[in-house]
Amino acid sequence: VPEVWPEQREILLLFTASLFVQTLCVLLPAASLLQLMDVRQACCDFLRTQLHPTNCLGIRAFADLHACTQLLGQAHAYAEQHFSEVMLSEEFLGLSLQQVCSLISSDKLTVSTEEKVFEAMISWIKYDKEARLEHMPKLMEHVRLPLLSRDYLVQIVEEEALIKNNSTCKDFLIEAMKYHLLPADQRHLIKTDRTRPRTPVSLPKVMIVVGGQAPKAIRSVECYDFQEDRWYQVADLPSRRCRAGVTFMGGRVYAVGGFNGSLRVRTVDVYDAMRDQWSPVPSMQERRSTLGAAVLGDLLYAVGGFDGSTGLSSVEAYSYKTNEWTFVAPMNTRRSSVGVGVVDGKLYAVGGYDGASRQCLSTVEQYDPISNQWCYVADMSTRRSGAGVGVLSGQLYAAGGHDGPLVRKSVEVYDPSSNSWRQVCDMNMCRRNAGVCAINGLLYVIGGDDGSCNLSSVEFYNPATDKWSLLPTNMSNGRSYAGVSVIDKPL
Ligand SMILES: *[C@@H]1O[C@H](CO)[C@@H](O)[C@H](O)[C@H]1NC(C)=O
Ligand SMILES: *[C@@H]1O[C@H](CO)[C@@H](O)[C@H](O)[C@H]1NC(C)=O
Ligand SMILES: *[C@@H]1O[C@H](CO)[C@@H](O)[C@H](O)[C@H]1NC(C)=O
Ligand SMILES: *[C@@H]1O[C@H](CO)[C@@H](O)[C@H](O)[C@H]1NC(C)=O
Ligand SMILES: *[C@@H]1O[C@H](CO)[C@@H](O)[C@H](O)[C@H]1NC(C)=O
Repeated sequence: VPEVWPEQREILLLFTASLFVQTLCVLLPAASLLQLMDVRQACCDFLRTQLHPTNCLGIRAFADLHACTQLLGQAHAYAEQHFSEVMLSEEFLGLSLQQVCSLISSDKLTVSTEEKVFEAMISWIKYDKEARLEHMPKLMEHVRLPLLSRDYLVQIVEEEALIKNNSTCKDFLIEAMKYHLLPADQRHLIKTDRTRPRTPVSLPKVMIVVGGQAPKAIRSVECYDFQEDRWYQVADLPSRRCRAGVTFMGGRVYAVGGFNGSLRVRTVDVYDAMRDQWSPVPSMQERRSTLGAAVLGDLLYAVGGFDGSTGLSSVEAYSYKTNEWTFVAPMNTRRSSVGVGVVDGKLYAVGGYDGASRQCLSTVEQYDPISNQWCYVADMSTRRSGAGVGVLSGQLYAAGGHDGPLVRKSVEVYDPSSNSWRQVCDMNMCRRNAGVCAINGLLYVIGGDDGSCNLSSVEFYNPATDKWSLLPTNMSNGRSYAGVSVIDKPL
């Protein structure tokens, strides 16, 4: 397949596979049924490895057409589990009324909030408003409006012209408002399926640790399986990379920029766990190592870093849709070895090193994507460059880092609602340039170095007990400057 966008490639593959099976069915009427079944099975096995939010509904339709029961089930489950992304796809907008109803009525739908389901319904209708408007009451039957927040009901739902116009739709809205007006202990009096929370099947997760220094830039990538307490290697990076920004977007892991052992790079590689395969996406405009990378809305931000001669204040963002990097407003400060995190629709850049005044930084800036502006928020209690920054329950953690030669084990937490930092329990080890990720209410800090050694150990923080514990099993290598992300465990 020539160089095409991932989405185009998937459609091409699907088309080819479909054609392949159909051709076989026409050409081989006399072939033994068994042989044909083998070919069909191979085809289905292959398509299973290609599942992605942009193609899973097409693959589901393909499986249905060719009576591949197992693939049908897998593609359907995949669509439910990745609904937040599936609802943005062309495939979703092209579904029939009956198909949309069947999807959004499922108890197994995985959505961060029920608001997503409402938004999915509205965008499906607006895609062909003239023909679909009349289906609104039928669809609203399956949106669990009572579970929406009060603010959302009042500000968004009530203002939606499509709802205002039909009394059946209004009845659903009234039902939801009634639910909110009743005291909690009387809400069960409203007899409807729409007050029942969805119960998605949570997918097992693994933690992926990408590249790093051990002691030089390496290509190795390893995953940690939380259920089995086991590390295993996956596909190497296409080239050596440490000090990259690593983050997760649209079902894939992005390794952005970094240092390849001789040069700070602007290249970006993306990992598809289902295929265990890395492939390139467009490069950033600037070379950046020790940058911060995070996803906010549907953009991936590359924040600050070091280009080989100076620390950077510039920030650029990658859009999956346009497949391009564009600059956004720069920070107020040059920051290399910066940590980033996203809380409540804002991006935070924490500490780092300001090449100009040769200072490790205690300052923190917040980016608002709507106004495209950076502003300072409260300073940390101490200077931290190369801190491990992560987000847990709406709070921003800065773990370890260093100020000059002093490597820290202290950890502090920022609460956006009070604009203040507070100290929590120290880590077991001093760590700088460690990786961070959050899963199941725990914050993991992976590797890093303590000033003399690159660490293979991983520790996690439980906010309920204010304690750090070491993971029972270390990584295969001591790694500092590795990037970390959490992904679904591949099937
Ligand atoms: C609302 O929509 C339903 C379904 O299209 C229709 O049967 C009903 O007449 C509509 N009600 C009003 C008041 O427009
Ligand atoms: C609401 O209904 C009226 C009368 O049926 C119609 O003229 C108008 O276009 C509708 N508005 C919307 C937003 O659908
Ligand atoms: C650890 O990594 C650093 C870079 O962070 C490297 O300079 C150093 O040689 C490594 N130390 C060991 C003991 O591997
Ligand atoms: C680093 O990247 C540069 C530019 O792409 C390349 O010429 C060089 O060989 C790379 N170095 C290593 C060690 O891979
Ligand atoms: C993990 O590494 C740490 C040092 O970073 C070491 O003290 C510990 O014994 C190791 N644990 C295991 C199980 O190897």
